Amino acid sequence: MNPMLNIAIRAARAAGDVIIRQIDHVQDLPVIQKSRNDFVTEVDKHAEMAIIDTLRNAYPDHAFLAEESGQQGESPYLWIIDPLDGTTNYLHGFPQYAVSIALQHKGELVQAVVYDPLRQELFTAGRGEGAMLNNRRIRVSKQKFLEGALLGTGFPFKEQERLDEYLKSFKTLFLMTAGIRRAGAASLDLAYVACGRLDGFWELGLKPWDMAAGILLVQEAGGMNSEISGGDKFLDSGNIVSANPEIHDEILKKLN
Ligand code: IPD
Ligand code: CA
Ligand code: CA
Repeated sequence: MNPMLNIAIRAARAAGDVIIRQIDHVQDLPVIQKSRNDFVTEVDKHAEMAIIDTLRNAYPDHAFLAEESGQQGESPYLWIIDPLDGTTNYLHGFPQYAVSIALQHKGELVQAVVYDPLRQELFTAGRGEGAMLNNRRIRVSKQKFLEGALLGTGFPFKEQERLDEYLKSFKTLFLMTAGIRRAGAASLDLAYVACGRLDGFWELGLKPWDMAAGILLVQEAGGMNSEISGGDKFLDSGNIVSANPEIHDEILKKLN
């Protein structure tokens, strides 16, 4: 296995340990509201520290872009980190959250880990190496049509002024598919597209740390990622459609 992926897995497991250790004390955790509907706890911060310490120990010259501590350092290697994706779920005991770690080299995603510490599901990908779930190769689904498809999504709860724009896309896709799920952790939504549990996923207004690892997972599992308009600046715009190639094509046609 690629040594950088190996270290990323070690870092994700260390963060997972922090998250699970506090699981019975969530009610007692002080919660800070960063902005509307955006919360952070000591768990997010400690998990992030565990990740950065592990990575920095192995790669002292690399740079970091992490949700809670921002951008640190300058290097062709950039680690993009969400220490706890799905904080609202975690705070409510809703069992859907993950650690997300991606590595970019000269702007290209090269390694990815999404780790669900509750189910102990470890999703990994390396550029050109395929995507895995607990060391077994995963592929996107073979679903060919929106009719019968199961899609994941996220609501624009932090940017509520985008609700009308979002509801338009929701209505279009809702009327065509077998079902839509809003599970509350974008990194896992993307991992689920990669392993075929979802046929596709779309969300507006995500941050790079929500998506970076999931994007490589989908790509390496044979799926497609784009902006809703079809463009490829989704990591910057935060607006993403990910799916198997047939469903991706269909979603773009319906939404444009
Ligand atoms: C959030 C989750 C959620 C998505 C939000 C993200 P956080 O991440 O991924 O599914 O809808 O846009 O911000 O804040 O729990 O790390
Ligand atoms: Ca997140
Ligand atoms: Ca987070």
